Amino acid sequence: MNERTQAFDDAVAQSAARIRASGRQPRIAVLLGSGWHEFSAAVRDTVSMRYADLPAFPVLGIAGHAGTLVLGRCGAHEVAVLAGRKHAYETGDAQAMKGAIATLAACGVQVLVQTNAGGSLEPSMRSGALMLLTDHLNITQRSPLQGDTGSERFVDLRDAYDPSLRRQAHAAAQRRGVTLHEGVYAWVLGPQFETPAEIRMLQRLGAQAVGMSTVPETILARRFGLRVLALSLITNMGCGLHDEALSHAHTLASAQAAGARAVPLLHAIVEALEV
Ligand code: HPA
Repeated sequence: MNERTQAFDDAVAQSAARIRASGRQPRIAVLLGSGWHEFSAAVRDTVSMRYADLPAFPVLGIAGHAGTLVLGRCGAHEVAVLAGRKHAYETGDAQAMKGAIATLAACGVQVLVQTNAGGSLEPSMRSGALMLLTDHLNITQRSPLQGDTGSERFVDLRDAYDPSLRRQAHAAAQRRGVTLHEGVYAWVLGPQFETPAEIRMLQRLGAQAVGMSTVPETILARRFGLRVLALSLITNMGCGLHDEALSHAHTLASAQAAGARAVPLLHAIVEALEV
């Protein structure tokens, strides 16, 4: 084993030991993206840890992303909520969340529920809409598994977004009377938004939404044996499909406005998951 692998394994083991020492045994992890952060407040009976105290977790760069792991309850489930993700566009490193996902797996987490903010490529899916990911397009062609050795790195991504969990999410949305779209999510590196020509390209490639996250964590989760469910909160139409100007502030403002509908749905979905 080389030194880098040993250091990674040690950091994961230490992080998992800290989580286990809390006495909690989460089986579901929920990774919060823009617009979804109020979910932490809906979790009961919580113990919080800072990413900074978990050596396998990333150091976060974006203001407003807390970098906190919240262990608690959502209905009958014990959950681990990751408030804050490090994006590949910050440093070019697609492995930023690798240690965190490996730690969750080491603690016995079986399901990763991901959330994000995304742009719509579908005229019928407007700002404020919610979309369940059925599949993804890795436009960046970067892999969080680069440098890994062993056969586990050749991850099968068929049904990367678990069909059974997707059915359960649709059923929970239907019970609440919330429209849940579904579609393919295209991961672009960012941080710049797309050009109108790129948006037309992504539409032709068969994507319904575009965003700058989620896919590396899905690949990592599948690598470490977790099932994945992922939800996009649509904050804008893709560049050129509507005459709005895009900015990070616009994404955050739309995400916050729609979060009031998204967060209760997320709670209902997580509560109803059969793990
Ligand atoms: N493009 C990429 N990422 C995004 C967008 C977008 O239009 N909206 C929110 N995240």
